[in-house]
Amino acid sequence: MITHHQKLTNWVNEWAELCQPEKIHWCDGSEAENQSLLDEMVASGVCIKLNEAKRPNSYYFQSDPSDVARVENRTFICSEKKEDAGPTNNWASPVEMKETLKKLFNGSMRGRTMYVIPFSMGPLGSRIAHIGIQLTDSPYVVVNMRIMTRMGKAVLNILGNDEFVPCVHSVGFPLEPGQKDKKWPCAPIEQKYISHFPETKEILSYGSGYGGNALLGKKCFALRIASYMAKKQSWLAEHMLIMGITNPKGIKKYFAAAFPSACGKTNLAMLVPSIPGWKVECVGDDIAWMKFGEDGRLYAINPEAGFFGVAPLTSMKTNPNAMLSLKENSIFTNTALTPDGDIWWEGIGYDAPEGTITWTNEKYDPKVDKPAAHPNARFTAPASQCPVIDPAWEDPKGVPISAFIFGGRRPTTIPLVHEAFDWNHGVFLGSIAGSEVTAAAIGLKAGVRRDPFAMLPFTGYNMADYFNNWIKTGEVAPNKNALPKIFYVNWFRKDENSKWLWPGFGDNIRVLKWIFERCENTVKAVRTPIGYLPSIESIDISGLEKQAINLSRLLSVDKDVWKEEIALIKEHFALFGDRLPIELKNQLIALENRFQ
Ligand code: GTP
Ligand code: SPV
Ligand code: MN
Repeated sequence: MITHHQKLTNWVNEWAELCQPEKIHWCDGSEAENQSLLDEMVASGVCIKLNEAKRPNSYYFQSDPSDVARVENRTFICSEKKEDAGPTNNWASPVEMKETLKKLFNGSMRGRTMYVIPFSMGPLGSRIAHIGIQLTDSPYVVVNMRIMTRMGKAVLNILGNDEFVPCVHSVGFPLEPGQKDKKWPCAPIEQKYISHFPETKEILSYGSGYGGNALLGKKCFALRIASYMAKKQSWLAEHMLIMGITNPKGIKKYFAAAFPSACGKTNLAMLVPSIPGWKVECVGDDIAWMKFGEDGRLYAINPEAGFFGVAPLTSMKTNPNAMLSLKENSIFTNTALTPDGDIWWEGIGYDAPEGTITWTNEKYDPKVDKPAAHPNARFTAPASQCPVIDPAWEDPKGVPISAFIFGGRRPTTIPLVHEAFDWNHGVFLGSIAGSEVTAAAIGLKAGVRRDPFAMLPFTGYNMADYFNNWIKTGEVAPNKNALPKIFYVNWFRKDENSKWLWPGFGDNIRVLKWIFERCENTVKAVRTPIGYLPSIESIDISGLEKQAINLSRLLSVDKDVWKEEIALIKEHFALFGDRLPIELKNQLIALENRFQ
């Protein structure tokens, strides 16, 4: 491919010299290119083409059993100073990390093709969008990036001679002459490095082919690098879904919600409301970039172009819009495979047909306690295929946000919904967010962990400074009255028999309705020590069996339990020492005082 971007050409050549690929392929993003990559992978047994009649133009991959999710203990933030990475990140010196990686990348693409992927995070040409170039030796990554980002020739045209974020990726499994390739090549865990250099805006990822480790536009760029850029330039890069919600009168608002990995963003982003007259439309399901617009409101874009969603438990009942999004032109990784060439997973809504093959390529036996799909099995589907994709989802100016919603899996303590008293209190709620651990990352201890703003694994700098960026956003807001209101939800409260107290999914609209009406100032709230709560009557449970929903329990704020929670928040805050913004220290003192 011809580019007049000298720096880009030089950079590609330098890396090619180091990695020694057999050839270099500049991706144009065309249908023909995509098809030939897929055909090659089918021919070499890397993937299976699914039954064209059941799942048109879709492909099935099984990863190596050691490479199934993000690896947080192998993810590094390489800032000049250790304290700038902060207590929640793995730090490494940029010079040392580059030395280590240069050795690993040396010859790492032998026997393979190096693909050059120009991609835009955000609609082409949007003032909020940014361009990256990923080098990779994985054709699987290329076909996924084509769904997840705007990719190919058009991006180079827009780039002109401007700056781009350089992203280098290798699966870390060079092939010697005559050596047979693996179905899913990758490096052993101790050789995996997902490294970020926020100060120079570079990404080097070695040894893994899975999801956020390998599709570098997503977590590495759009969150870790972008969060650092956002701090520098006073904007926000967040692990948030963006949804449009229209009430029965036709009034529309946009909400952005941050829940930790595998805690329901994809579900909420495209929910089918269970109360009549309400409509939900999806702008994005994982990442939001936000800047103030000329009218003083905060505008959000979805930097991605596809969904990389958790497959298990996705069904026509829990998330029909996701099921319809993935009905064709999709990629499935680590789901199960049915004998008639379709995909299957636990909770898809019907039994696995006889002869289903598991993600580890064995015959599935439902009597054995081993799931057919990996709990972090994922689908990659174009966002444009979502039946409720928002008409403004590609609007380069973004959509105006009326409310932020934080949440996580908390079996106790946190009520179904509460509202912050003001912006700084809302930032405090984000900073203390926590969740039970899920399968989206490898090697974490079970139990509740603090996951501030759902950004614990994704903030590219000191988390205390990240909190400060949120405080500052409130201060620099051109119009304080136009700032989004901030809420906290918890769909995951359980009773003593470990049963969900709240039906969740489509019924979450009942909580969104309250939030919507709070934004309109048309519904009252009860002041409690932790924030504003709905009164029991103001949550619409029409159509639900009244006895089945224990709202007083779902909305309870127990003083003794909160004493314990406050002790845990203190522990969490202690981690940040003096760097913790004074505003948050004061919020904690105020919370404690409100419980006196
Ligand atoms: P990432 O893509 O990892 O960032 O995650 P996500 O937040 O998009 O997660 P997703 O929506 O795929 O959440 C998947 C899990 O959350 C599944 O196990 C769902 O069953 C569960 N889930 C989602 N919404 C609800 C809900 O309202 N109630 C309950 N009980 N479970 C839910
Ligand atoms: C997450 O873990 O939050 C994801 C999946 O969205 S991954 O892209 O693998 O990070
Ligand atoms: Mn995510």
